[in-house]
Amino acid sequence: MSTAATKTYNIVLLPGDGVGPEVTRAARDVLRVIGDFYGHHFEFAEHLIGGAAIDETGEPLPEATRAACVASDAVLLGAVGGPKWDGGKARPEQGLLAIRKAMGLFANLRPLQVSPVLAHRSPLKKEIVEGVDLIVFRELTGGVYFGEKTRTADRATDLCEYTVPEIERVTRAAFQTAQQRRGKVTSVDKANVMETSRLWREVVTRIHAEEFPDITLEHALVDSMAMHLIRKPREYDVILTENMFGDILSDEISVLGGSIGLLPSASLGAGGPGLFEPIHGSAPDIAGKGIANPYATLFSAAMLLRHSLGLEAEAAAVEAAVHAVLDDGVFTADLAAKGQAVSTAAATDAVLAKLK
Ligand SMILES: NC(=O)c1ccc[n+]([C@@H]2O[C@H](COP(=O)([O-])OP(=O)(O)OC[C@H]3O[C@@H](n4cnc5c(N)ncnc54)[C@H](O)[C@@H]3O)[C@@H](O)[C@H]2O)c1
Repeated sequence: MSTAATKTYNIVLLPGDGVGPEVTRAARDVLRVIGDFYGHHFEFAEHLIGGAAIDETGEPLPEATRAACVASDAVLLGAVGGPKWDGGKARPEQGLLAIRKAMGLFANLRPLQVSPVLAHRSPLKKEIVEGVDLIVFRELTGGVYFGEKTRTADRATDLCEYTVPEIERVTRAAFQTAQQRRGKVTSVDKANVMETSRLWREVVTRIHAEEFPDITLEHALVDSMAMHLIRKPREYDVILTENMFGDILSDEISVLGGSIGLLPSASLGAGGPGLFEPIHGSAPDIAGKGIANPYATLFSAAMLLRHSLGLEAEAAAVEAAVHAVLDDGVFTADLAAKGQAVSTAAATDAVLAKLK
């Protein structure tokens, strides 16, 4: 119940499988402390998804989970999947696709900031990655992944299709984010050969001229962009692209920072609740050991505060606390030198201590 001073936000937690429950617990603890400090009440409701939901109900996305997510202010997900469900009729990943669809999510955001203390862990030279601060906006509902598919014995096709409204809505979201960052959008396409890319470029150019002339817009072809991201990643601010190019480029970018355990993501729709999750999977090899890196999920919780609840100061406080513990060298096993690793709980406590 809200008082005049406290506002209640309903957050659905979907712990899922493997390390999912361990890292969502960490995020819940951090959000509680943020709520206490800033005078908000976060009401958490936990629901089943993925393998855990299959075990309990036979389905990867039970109706109760779908209904709770759609009615919430925001959703925080751990991860789904694992060898236990491989080869089964119902697959945990179907739950993730189904919830994205049910929530009408059309833009997937993946930010990357390379911490100076971790730049040496990147596969690229430290001087190339140090200071990288970019965000990828990937369109999530159209393109070749969702077009009509045909198959005969000796021929297969995947239709690549985009409509103007599909391009417009993700473009506006990217430009709006650029206004709050360094004011630059790089739109990535393959306009030299693909008709959908020519439409993409036309629409992005028009939205820029009509609605966001204050933003610097550049266009890049996806093949050369794959090279530029390795050669000069620091030059990019907001990268806007369609579904398949975004899928590939965001995975390329994800290795620049040194550990998958650090990278958050958000999936946003038109004004409704967003879905926030670390980009890593359920990590079955380390699940249940209490050693998973919680920072990607804590950064995801910060994105939830910013993008779904509009709580910018609170989001920045979480990010600053995680960066501070990284600067202090509080590392889980994926980042630490031999014998120096802390547990998930100890890493979370270090962040909580910074917040308090
Ligand atoms: N969004 C999702 O829920 C999602 C995403 C990717 C994979 N998956 C599923 O997860 C399962 C495992 O997939 P995978 O092994 O290819 O990818 P993964 O991301 O789960 O693991 C890859 C490697 O990274 C490590 N790792 C991942 N998260 C970590 C963390 N927080 N802290 C420390 N180390 C971490 C793992 O231990 C593993 O060595 C599969 O069933 C896959 O389908 C789910």
